Amino acid sequence: MGEFYIEGGRPLDGSLRVQGAKNSVLPILAATILHRGTSVLKNCPRLRDVEASTEILRHLGCRCRWEGDALVVDAAGVDRWDVPDRLMRSMRSSVIFLGAILSRCGRAELSMPGGCELGPRPIDLHLAALRRLGAVIDEGGGRLRCEAPELVGRELTLSMPSVGATENSILAACGCEGTTVILNAAREPEIADLQRFLNAMGQRVRGAGTSTVTVEGRRPTRDAVHTVMPDRIVAATYLAAAAAAGGDVELQGVDYRHLSTVTAALHEAGCQIHSGGDSIRIRSQGRLRGIRPVRTAPYPGFPTDAQAVLMAALLRSRGVTVFVENIFDSRYRHVDELTRMGADIRVEGRVAVVCGVDRLQGAEMACTDLRGGAALAVAALSAEGESRLTAIHHIKRGYEDLARDLRLLGAQVEER
Ligand code: EPZ
Repeated sequence: MGEFYIEGGRPLDGSLRVQGAKNSVLPILAATILHRGTSVLKNCPRLRDVEASTEILRHLGCRCRWEGDALVVDAAGVDRWDVPDRLMRSMRSSVIFLGAILSRCGRAELSMPGGCELGPRPIDLHLAALRRLGAVIDEGGGRLRCEAPELVGRELTLSMPSVGATENSILAACGCEGTTVILNAAREPEIADLQRFLNAMGQRVRGAGTSTVTVEGRRPTRDAVHTVMPDRIVAATYLAAAAAAGGDVELQGVDYRHLSTVTAALHEAGCQIHSGGDSIRIRSQGRLRGIRPVRTAPYPGFPTDAQAVLMAALLRSRGVTVFVENIFDSRYRHVDELTRMGADIRVEGRVAVVCGVDRLQGAEMACTDLRGGAALAVAALSAEGESRLTAIHHIKRGYEDLARDLRLLGAQVEER
């Protein structure tokens, strides 16, 4: 299963190119079936979740192969519309295939995605949007049975700016007769990347990145080549690592505008940040200081996915920082593990209060989820002595090789 052994107390130094974005490539992989031909996805990260998605694509009848850092998908042979329970359970965000399968096949059958480490993951907004476009969906027995003989474009409003529901709506809208207007859409940069891919394929999507997205359906499609955008949460993770351990780190191939709330928080904590072009440089020395409350929110607010790693960077700060997790019901599972190192964190519902301590001790900790696991590694870099991280399979869902990257920056991290 693998474990990380991390020796703390060493500053980070060096530069690193950031991998392609998991939360962009996953909906893009689902979108490849909208074209009866080939899509080439450059800068595709090699992740467990990408493997899970290619398994689903192969099950549906696609052929997938790697060519260097590019994943090539040939969706000409799609001849199924079901995703078996085994594959649905391998990745909670598999529900993103629903809109694309409906568009391609006119019907779809998936198991309910169920919950995950972050708490219940309802899909009511997804289903309401697809029904609005004409899908007939039966939810009995833990399976979704969807018929959409005629998807018709119309105006639909999401009751909250859900990332996945926005993406599913866009993918279903590509199969609609006429134009769909999605109101109160999520504005995450990954949705703009999905739009770029879809338009390269011949679709006609406009407005992604704003609250109103317009899709003209039933467009003729063509083979497409797309370069996946950089992963802003992986970038935030490495910035938090440099902030926690101290040092001088430059990240390359990032769009600093995508994580400005994270860099603003680290600057307020006492780090020096220099952003420009496609790089971000962070310098951190001495102890950080507590910052104003961190409230997670839909983009462009502070990203929920960066909450845990920022918390880890502030464990030894002077002062107190209050976190308010507004997106997920259960996203503080890393706190109990961090307190094993001597961190002082109090959780009350959505609020976590971090009181900085002078020292952290290396400890044995178990990763609880993807970003919570990354936070344990960030905290271990600033602790005295060795930390042992188990259940690191969570981390591999979203980071190509966290141990390798941290070693490139001078950290002492071993995977055994
Ligand atoms: C995406 O999840 C990301 N995953 C998450 O990243 C990210 O944390 C999240 O967006 C918020 O930014 C991918 O893109 C694959 P939501 P998603 O729909 O689409 C509730 C990571 O670490 N909700 O915006 O599932 C939901 O329960 C992962 O990389 C409903 O109630 O997020 C949550 O509380 C974790 N009904 C909130 O909305 C619905 O139908 C935000 O969910 C849908 C969502």
